[in-house]
Order: sequence, then C-alpha cells, then structure tokens
Amino acid sequence: MSSYLALNSIHTMAAYLTVVLFSLRLLLDAVGRPNWRETPLRWIPHANDTVLLLAAISLLFVTPWMPFVHGWLTAKIFLLVGYIVAGMFAMKETRSLRVRVIASVLALVQITAIFHLAVNKPF
Ligand code: HEM
Repeated sequence: MSSYLALNSIHTMAAYLTVVLFSLRLLLDAVGRPNWRETPLRWIPHANDTVLLLAAISLLFVTPWMPFVHGWLTAKIFLLVGYIVAGMFAMKETRSLRVRVIASVLALVQITAIFHLAVNKPF
C-alpha cells in the first residue's frame, strides 16, 4: 500500500510537471524566446517524463490495472503516444506556425483527456 501511495504521488507530481514544462516551453516560443533550447529546460522535461513513465510502469506491478484489459488505461497509453507525437511537432522550430499551433492544441487536448481518464476511470 505504501509503495502504491509513493508511486502514485511521484507519478501524479510528474504528470502535473509535464504540463507545466510543456506550457512553459510553448509560452517562451510564443514570446520569441526560443533560446530556452540552450538552457537546462532542454533536458529537464525529458528527465521528468522518464520519471513519469517509470512510475507508471511500476504502478502496474502494485495495482490490479492492466493495459488492454482496462479500457481507461489502454486509452491512456494511446493518448500518450498521440501527446508525444503532437508535442514533437509543437516544439519543432522548422515547422510552420500553423502546424505548431494545431499540434500544441492537440497535445493539450490529449493530456487533458489523459488526466480525465486517470482520475475518473470512466470505462
Ligand atoms: C502523460 C502521461 C500520463 C499522465 C498525465 C498520467 C496521469 C495520472 C494521474 C493524474 C494519476 C492519478 C489518478 C488518481 O490518483 O486519481 C494516474 C494514475 C495512474 N496511472 Fe497515469 N498518467 C500518464 C501515463 C500513464 C501510463 C503510460 C500508464 C501505464 C502504462 C499509467 C498508469 C497509471 C496507473 C496504473 C495509475 C494508478 C491508478 C489508480 O490506482 O488509481 N499512467 N495517472
């Protein structure tokens, strides 16, 4: 039980932090500060996302939840892939503004859906 609480807390904190770090990078690009790519902000989100995923996989060992058995979790994994792909397009300086704006919105919609599924487990 205590490992569940610890892992869930780490996972949840990293989940909130991924949104904050993603939004911060979008904001910095939007205000013309693309040089965040030469700061620790370049690797901190990747480190956080690694923690997020390691805690997620660990949670599977201490809870009864199973991908491809429990629908909310399966949907979460597919949305995670979508979030990663959209996030990559959103961050790419070489993409057009139109593509980056659409990708940013898609990424934020998908991460919102992931939170909804994680908290409410509707199916
Ligand atoms: C960006 C990706 C993700 C986000 C934002 C996210 C978010 C969350 C949040 C906020 C919770 C806490 C829900 C609560 O306690 O009410 C949670 C729980 C959980 N997540 Fe994730 N998650 C992500 C990815 C994943 C992945 C990839 C997996 C599995 C491979 C996973 C497995 C779990 C499990 C097993 C729980 C525990 C559910 C429970 O026992 O209540 N998560 N997630």
